[in-house]
Amino acid sequence: MAPTQDEIFQKSEADRWFLRNKDYLSKITPDKDPIMKAISEAGIKPKSALEIGASNGYRLAMIRALFKAKCVAVEPSSLAIADGKKRYDGIDFRKGVAHKLPMKKGEKFDLVILNFVFHWIDRRKLFHSFAEIDAAVTDGGWLAIGDFYSKEPTKVPYRHIKKGRVWTYKQDYAEVFIKSGIYRRVLLKIGSVAKRDFLKPQSDYDSFAVSILKKSLDGYYSLWEG
Ligand SMILES: C[S@@+](CC[C@H](N)C(=O)[O-])C[C@H]1O[C@@H](n2cnc3c(N)ncnc32)[C@H](O)[C@@H]1O
Repeated sequence: MAPTQDEIFQKSEADRWFLRNKDYLSKITPDKDPIMKAISEAGIKPKSALEIGASNGYRLAMIRALFKAKCVAVEPSSLAIADGKKRYDGIDFRKGVAHKLPMKKGEKFDLVILNFVFHWIDRRKLFHSFAEIDAAVTDGGWLAIGDFYSKEPTKVPYRHIKKGRVWTYKQDYAEVFIKSGIYRRVLLKIGSVAKRDFLKPQSDYDSFAVSILKKSLDGYYSLWEG
């Protein structure tokens, strides 16, 4: 049977992505990172943060420096984790994927981040992933989602793998959480992938968005007493 998209990333592609991008990652500063800018604009000061698909933990290192937050990084690439352990103190790195998070029993976070990760999750594991992510967000906490932005679901072939079927799936992933009734979008920032910033995208293809969602287990229902 052909490997699933998640298996391809766990076996080799996660490491290959890290090797292609590691020099760039170490140069990112909070003022250049759309997720850090959105967190700042939303006024979030987390005491604990989980990043899923965290690469070498460069963003969590910024969050730890700014907020002294307890930080956990989940990532399938062993190379990214080994690099992060050498570079940054105080981040708890765990090898894993979004559909089966390596969490301790009952472990929850004020802030959970996924930046450009949803688009590679195998569609067979998408709802498993939504459930795992929701379980990791504390009631009253935040979920930050950055990804390609497309109002209608669109898929494009992943250009680094020529053989086999790996897709980049573009859509507004925040919508699923919002439609559940327990998340509200408190910030939506749209930007240009090419410019890596919140600047007008050249086209739909060039569009990305960061959504900050706030979770409330009973906060977003209108009351109807009949
Ligand atoms: C495009 S990179 C983005 C890295 C980082 N989030 C950032 O903002 O720079 C996608 C990351 O997600 C990881 N990844 C791929 N599939 C994943 C999955 N199913 N669950 C969690 N992480 C995954 C990759 O190894 C890679 O580090």
